[in-house]
Amino acid sequence: MKRLDGKSALITGAARGIGRGFAEAYIREGATVAIADLNLAAAEKTADELGENAYAVHLDVSQQSSIDAAVDAVVSKAGKLDILINNAALFDAAETVDITRESFEKLYSVNVAGTLFTMQAAAIQMIAQGHGGKIINMASQAGRRGESLVLVYCSTKAAVISMTQSAGLNLIRHGINVNAIAPGVVDGEHWEHVDSMFAKLENKKVGEKRAEVEAGVPAGRFAIPQDLSGMAIFLASAESDYILSQTYNVDGGQWMN
Ligand SMILES: NC(=O)c1ccc[n+]([C@@H]2O[C@H](COP(=O)([O-])OP(=O)(O)OC[C@H]3O[C@@H](n4cnc5c(N)ncnc54)[C@H](O)[C@@H]3O)[C@@H](O)[C@H]2O)c1
Repeated sequence: MKRLDGKSALITGAARGIGRGFAEAYIREGATVAIADLNLAAAEKTADELGENAYAVHLDVSQQSSIDAAVDAVVSKAGKLDILINNAALFDAAETVDITRESFEKLYSVNVAGTLFTMQAAAIQMIAQGHGGKIINMASQAGRRGESLVLVYCSTKAAVISMTQSAGLNLIRHGINVNAIAPGVVDGEHWEHVDSMFAKLENKKVGEKRAEVEAGVPAGRFAIPQDLSGMAIFLASAESDYILSQTYNVDGGQWMN
């Protein structure tokens, strides 16, 4: 018996990167997965590559109507929603004196409001179904402490950790477990973007920031998305029914709490 047999999952931002890795892992464990992403063409390509238990859904987590439509699409395709991973997020970096309202509002509308209101829409659906559910929010090591050039992103991830605590306490009465995963550094297009931003901000060569960061990871390397899969499966399975409001570090030893 697979650990997520017959489950219906919605993963935001799953067209690439970590979200795609989660989708692959959930499908291997028997789930049907909605690859929900702002980039519909990329989501469709990913869903095609992952096979018949994946399907693409257009989703902009910064828009309430889009969140509601995505949950409706999952229910009409799979008949129900059992698992949500709030994975979509944006990154930005700047000197404190250079942070713009535009960047602040963009990151907060996706990373914070997007996480909250997608969690809310999923919870409403799960409560109506009457048999609980699992919600996993993507936090970050960046949410554990500030970083000199990353004020806005770090604060959005601290908010994710806090929202996970409160929502977990509130939704457990409906049998819904809310927890979070805090990765450290994970290879992929996201980190290519981060590295190129730091190259400009800190006057480094492309790849230099990544190498410096990797040297500081106790496990000796960046993660790949598959390194996070075990925790994501565990938090979506019945094995974690007594766990709520927690944020788990899956970061090669970068943070201890
Ligand atoms: N990569 C890392 O090192 C790292 C470390 C810690 C935490 N995280 C977190 O893990 C999660 C996934 O990271 P990743 O590296 O795979 O990111 P990524 O940038 O590679 O992928 C993010 C996906 O989200 C989609 N997206 C962006 N805005 C959206 C919106 N408004 N609505 C729906 N989808 C949208 C993008 O199209 C993209 O497919 C994020 O929450 C990120 O903050 C990543």
